[in-house]
Amino acid sequence: MQEVTLITGGSNGIGAAIAASETASGRHVLNLDLAAPQAELSSQTYIKADLANRVSTQALLNEIAGKYAVSRIVNNVGATGGFGIDKIPLDRLDLLNELHIVLPIMIMQMALPSMRERRFGRVVFISSGAAKGRPNASIYGATKAAMMSLTASWALELGRDGITVNAIAPGPVQTDLFLRGAPVGSANYEHQKSRTAIGRLGVPKDVAVLAAFLLGADSENVTGQTIFTCGGASIGQSPLPPY
Ligand SMILES: NC(=O)c1ccc[n+]([C@@H]2O[C@H](COP(=O)([O-])OP(=O)(O)OC[C@H]3O[C@@H](n4cnc5c(N)ncnc54)[C@H](O)[C@@H]3O)[C@@H](O)[C@H]2O)c1
Repeated sequence: MQEVTLITGGSNGIGAAIAASETASGRHVLNLDLAAPQAELSSQTYIKADLANRVSTQALLNEIAGKYAVSRIVNNVGATGGFGIDKIPLDRLDLLNELHIVLPIMIMQMALPSMRERRFGRVVFISSGAAKGRPNASIYGATKAAMMSLTASWALELGRDGITVNAIAPGPVQTDLFLRGAPVGSANYEHQKSRTAIGRLGVPKDVAVLAAFLLGADSENVTGQTIFTCGGASIGQSPLPPY
């Protein structure tokens, strides 16, 4: 069976940057996404899927298990949830729960027999700095914090099987998802930029370089960790005035 890196939401933004770096490392990417990939990659299989639909996703995962050996998983797909506590629509919480928690569990359960047999696996969650708390983003932050907790527990459960599990918590990264909430030139865009110590927003490649390390065979001694790639945005609330 063909060995693959399964990436959810690998057609755009952070997922696409990780897909590009995986293929550059000589690995084949299985990209599950609603939208077609922005970039043609030589070693990528794209499958159109609405990953928020549990029934069709389970059927797809059953097919994948019979066809591919999934040795690496990147739980990247996500949705935002910018609501104050008094205005949280519970169906939005259902969506975030589905994409950020239920889906990674379904994928892990699908891939586990093959990873255990090969005594090798790499799992990377794309969480968020919002897990530490962010006004008007509590359901987003809470479901991203759940990713950090799954990471720690699975690392403990699976370490003896040769499987590592880590989370990456990006700060603000210029992608379509980010720009929908903070269009270039808006007050929010400038605010997000000012939150970083390095004075710039992240780009998808900032996340991909870290993912490349965690997905590599040499990173076995790093497991159960959440690593922030955020230009320093996660370590304080009072950046210096503009340089
Ligand atoms: N951009 C940021 O500032 C930032 C910061 C922290 C964390 N994150 C997280 O990084 C991850 C990727 O975000 P991004 O900014 O690259 O987003 P993006 O919108 O650029 O890309 C998301 C991809 O997911 C796909 N997708 C969305 N819903 C889907 C569904 N139901 N089924 C299948 N595919 C679906 C989209 O088609 C798209 O290709 C998300 O989990 C997000 O929460 C992003």
